[in-house]
This record gives sequence, C-alpha cells and structure tokens, in this order.
Amino acid sequence: MRLKRTIGAGELDTSWIDKEVIVSGWVLRRRDHGGVIFIDLRDRSGLLQVVFEEGIRPEVHEIADSIRNEYVISVKGKIRRRPPGMENPKIPTGEIELVATDVEILNTSKTPPFQLDEDVSEVSEAIRLKYRYLEMRSLGGLEPFIFRHKVNKCIRDFLDSKGFLEIETPFLTKSTPEGARDYLVPSRLYPGKFYALPQSPQLFKQILMVAGVEKYYQIVRCFRDEDLRADRQPEFTQLDMEMSFVEERDVMDVVEELITELFKKCLGIELSRPFPVFTYEKALEEYGTDRPDIRFEMKLKNLSELFKDTEFKVFKGAIESGGVVKGIKVPAWFSRKELDDLTKFAQELGAKGLAWIKYDGSADSFEKKWSSPIVKFFKQEVFEKLEEMFEPGDKATFFFVADKVEVANEVLSELRVSLAKKLGLIPENKFEFVWIVDFPLFEWDDEEERLVSVHHPFTHPKEEHLEILEKEPLKVKSKAYDLVLNGIEIGGGSIRIHKMDLQKKIFKLLNISDEEAEEKFGFLLTALEYGAPPHGGIAFGLDRLIMLMLGKKSIREVIAFPKTQKAQCLLTGAPAEVRIEQILELHLLPGWEKKKEGS
Ligand code: AMO
Ligand code: AMP
Repeated sequence: MRLKRTIGAGELDTSWIDKEVIVSGWVLRRRDHGGVIFIDLRDRSGLLQVVFEEGIRPEVHEIADSIRNEYVISVKGKIRRRPPGMENPKIPTGEIELVATDVEILNTSKTPPFQLDEDVSEVSEAIRLKYRYLEMRSLGGLEPFIFRHKVNKCIRDFLDSKGFLEIETPFLTKSTPEGARDYLVPSRLYPGKFYALPQSPQLFKQILMVAGVEKYYQIVRCFRDEDLRADRQPEFTQLDMEMSFVEERDVMDVVEELITELFKKCLGIELSRPFPVFTYEKALEEYGTDRPDIRFEMKLKNLSELFKDTEFKVFKGAIESGGVVKGIKVPAWFSRKELDDLTKFAQELGAKGLAWIKYDGSADSFEKKWSSPIVKFFKQEVFEKLEEMFEPGDKATFFFVADKVEVANEVLSELRVSLAKKLGLIPENKFEFVWIVDFPLFEWDDEEERLVSVHHPFTHPKEEHLEILEKEPLKVKSKAYDLVLNGIEIGGGSIRIHKMDLQKKIFKLLNISDEEAEEKFGFLLTALEYGAPPHGGIAFGLDRLIMLMLGKKSIREVIAFPKTQKAQCLLTGAPAEVRIEQILELHLLPGWEKKKEGS
C-alpha cells in the first residue's frame, strides 16, 4: 500500500480545509462530468466527495477514469470548501470535498448484484443473505451491528459495576431441558456418543452459584432445533444472569435498572420504573395471552355470566359444556367481506366461528344501533350491559368467541393484535414493558399424560403452595417471571430449587424417575448436595431486545449472519453434505466402517 490512510472519510469537516489527507475506502458512485470525475468514497466513518480534476495530474485522472463502483481505493489530496450551491446538507461532510492529487487502486470489484447506494431492503432477502457482506457495506448497513456493539458494552459496564462476573460455559456439553430439540455433535473418540449444544447455560449457571460466584452473567449463544419464526433462530444470543441469596424482586430490580440504563444510553429514552407487574391469570383474563401487548386497550372481557341464559345455541352450548364466551370491542366497522375473512382467521386459529355485532352509537333506534344476524337471540338487558361494560362510543364492532377458555383466549388475543395493527391503533416508538408473574408451576400434557414444567424443572414453587404440591399440583404457582416488551417475550427466569429433597419431589411429580434424573442432570443434583445457596436468575433474548429497540421486524436484521426461516445459511450454504470419510470417522454408519475395513 503506497498511500496509507491518515484519517476516516467521515471524520473530516471544515476545520480540515487546506490540509492534506489520505483517505481509504469503497467507491459508492462515480460521476464523470467530462474533465471532472466525482467519486463518493465510503468507509465505516462516513461518506466524502472526492474530485479528480483533469488539469491537476493527467495520470491520476486517467486512473480515476478506470475506477468502478465498489473498487477499494486510497486517495491523497487537499480538503477544500465546496463551491457555493454545491453543498449537500444530507451528509455530515456535505460542505467540503477532497481534491485528489494522487490515487491508488487497492482492489477492484465485480459489479455488485444490487445497488449499494439505494434502499437495499427492496432487494429480495435471499440475495441479501447470500451477499450479506455487501448488504452490511451498503449505506447504513452496519448500523444495527454498531448499535448491538454499544448495547453489549453497556450491559458489560453496568453488570461489572454491580459486581457480576462474566464466565464462559461450554458449548460441547450435555442436553439442557429448555423444551426444544437438541443439536447433537457426534464424538469421534467415543463411538456412538454425542455432545449436545446447549439450549441455554441453565445448569452451568446454577452450578456456578454452588461454586460461590454469587453474581454471574454471560452474553452467550444458545442452540435450539425448533420450528422457526420471525423472532426465532436456531442459534441465538442470550444475556444470561444468575444471582445468589436473592428473591424474585431482587432479580427484577437489577433487570429493570439495566434495561432503563440501556434505553437511556443507547436510545436516549427515559423509561419509567417500576415496570408494571401482571399475574399470569390477569394477563390471560384481559389479554388472552401471557405476552400481552399493553400499548393499546381493546381488552378481552369474560361474558359468560351475561350470556348464560341466552337462546343463542352457540353461546349456550359452550357455557353449558364448561367453556366461556369472551369478547372484545373494536372501534371500527367492517364490510361483510372483511367479517368473513376475520371469521376464517378465527377458524384457522381453532375457533368454531366468530360472532360479531355492529354498533352505531349515534343511531336513534335500537334496530339501527345494534346490527348482526344474531341480535335476535338476545334480550334488551344484554345490550344495555354490553354498553355499560365496553363504553363503545359511536362506532364499534363486538367480536365474540364461545369455546374452551384456552381457545377463546388464543383466538381473541390474535384478533386483538391483528386488528390493532390493521387499524393503526398501536402507537409507534412506544416501549411498554410488563412483568408476568405467578405462573403455574406445572401444566398437564394430554399427549404424554403427565405433568410437565411450565418453565423448567428447577423452578422454585411459591413458598405458600409447598403444602399442596402433591395434593393439587396444578394449583401450585411458581417463583418465575417473564419480561414482555410490546407483546414479545424478551426474557424469562425464576428462583431455583436449591434443596435436593424438594428437587426430588418435583421430579417425582413430573414422572421423572431417579435413574432418568441421574442420567440427565446428575451432575447438577450432585452439586446441589454440596451447599447450594438460594439462587435465581433470568435470561434475555438479546436479539429480540435489540430488534425491538431498533424497531426492526425480524431478529435476522440484527444478526450478522442469520439463518433463513428454513434454518439455512445462504452465505455459507450450511447445512451441507460432508465427505463419507468424515461420517465413518464419527462412527455414524457402524456397518459401513466394517465393510470399509474388510474391503
Ligand atoms: P427461555 O427458554 O425463556 O429461558 O429463554 C430466554 C429468552 O431467550 C429468547 N429465546 C429466543 N430468541 C431467539 N430465538 C430463539 N429460538 C429463542 N428461544 C428463546 C426469548 C426468551 O425469553 N434458562 C432459561 C432462563 C432462566 O431460567 O434463567 C431460559 O433459557 O426472548
Ligand atoms: P351458526 O349458528 O353456526 O350459523 O353461527 C352463527 C354465527 O355464530 C356465525 O357468525 C358463526 O361464525 C358464529 N359462531 C359459530 N360458532 C361460534 C363460536 N364457537 N364462537 C363464536 N361465534 C361462533
């Protein structure tokens, strides 16, 4: 390299006028105005206009003439003020330009598959992921990663100031019970044996508490082989934390302080504390989900009492068979076609149908006020009560689902969010956190015909429910907490069981035998027997948090090299086939190994 960079392009301003500099970077665009060639040079720090004037040095002008988009170049020259009228207020260096006296082409570039100076989000995601480095190089392409770096640094600074130790835990390990499928790694040295990639560092962080670490954290990759969605990746990053000698509120307080600091330092946003706390029951009752989006109202109401004497068979039948009628009020009217589509939407989510009533508060007669094919089934008092409960204003539509409570909740919560999005009822740039607490410890799994943990089997039951643990396990609540932001679960954790006798009881209730417990997490159980302190913690989906902070739609946008919805890496082509020798070496085809030796 003949011309060695002296400064970043974006670091220059009018104070550099008449000074000589060497800048290096990529050619974003090149414009040839006959005698004068303009190049917009981009590096990580910013964008700078470079001018090659024919009169200055013809040989330099000639090189400039051969330069194409995305070539890597170094340019030497003097900074000058742009001529009046030629300023570009859109870029920070818009008042100045570099008049080139020398240039060196450090590398050439093929014509990129998409224009790097336009909005690349228009380009298909498949192409962008294949050429991710070009997308990142495009204007603003590095922003999510610069932001992410800042968030990581803020997290580390904050937790360090609170006395947390960052400790790394293994990737080649044993299965962790977080409910997804494991990614397995075959062992070459131990035929037929496998490592599992961790679904989370759960067991190790608990063992670190037994080790006396007291305050641990890690920004750590987790691996889960599960069906992917916009906010899920097969490998993703957690901010994982664990503390000794704490109760729920201690963990929640540290987390709130950390999140408040992150929003202030990284976004300049002041959040108010404490974050609201909803019980699991309240969340389900009013929002139909344990991930409520509380940026807007449209709460669900249980109307079983109101409709219990109705003649409408659909409602009556549901209530009589132990189900519910729940409803929401939406401040809009819908066309017949829209109502049919919404009914289909509800049916796809498992509802048998979707009942609706249109409401016009300004109408002068009862008939005009309430319209729907099902109005005829209800008495006047029902409508009066609906008005009292929902205060519908002038223009509204009521939607009702009559079903098992789980179905009614799921359908109406999805309908609530989907309609709020469609009607523009969700305020932008608003961050609404809510803690969900008092989760049940267990739920019943119909398929496996046994109790399963709602979180994981190391979650501590509420002290006051220990008595009914064996008699009425489904009534037992846990010391778990989830943190939800704008309707997305960004974190979850709990106080853990630190005594073996209680842990054994829980395994028994979960129908996990001593042998199975020993085989799966014997190492943790052994550690718990050597003076485990009371402890608890939490883990955040860092990708999700950053996605929400930046207002992005998918966590893929904040991960440098993400996988597609089909778990493929389009850049590297993973997963890929491997050579048969590798497979044999890993003892994955035992029969074949013998054949090979024999042949
Ligand atoms: P949990 O399984 O709830 O808890 O995970 C914690 C958080 O990680 C995020 N997350 C994901 N993000 C992207 N892609 C995925 N596939 C994915 N799966 C989970 C979510 C979630 O809230 N060991 C416990 C924590 C604890 O008890 O301390 C755990 O892993 O935002
Ligand atoms: P039906 O009596 O089946 O013709 O239904 C009358 C209306 O009630 C239709 O608009 C259906 O979509 C709706 N409906 C049917 N089943 C349910 C249900 N379980 N909950 C709410 N609405 C329903």
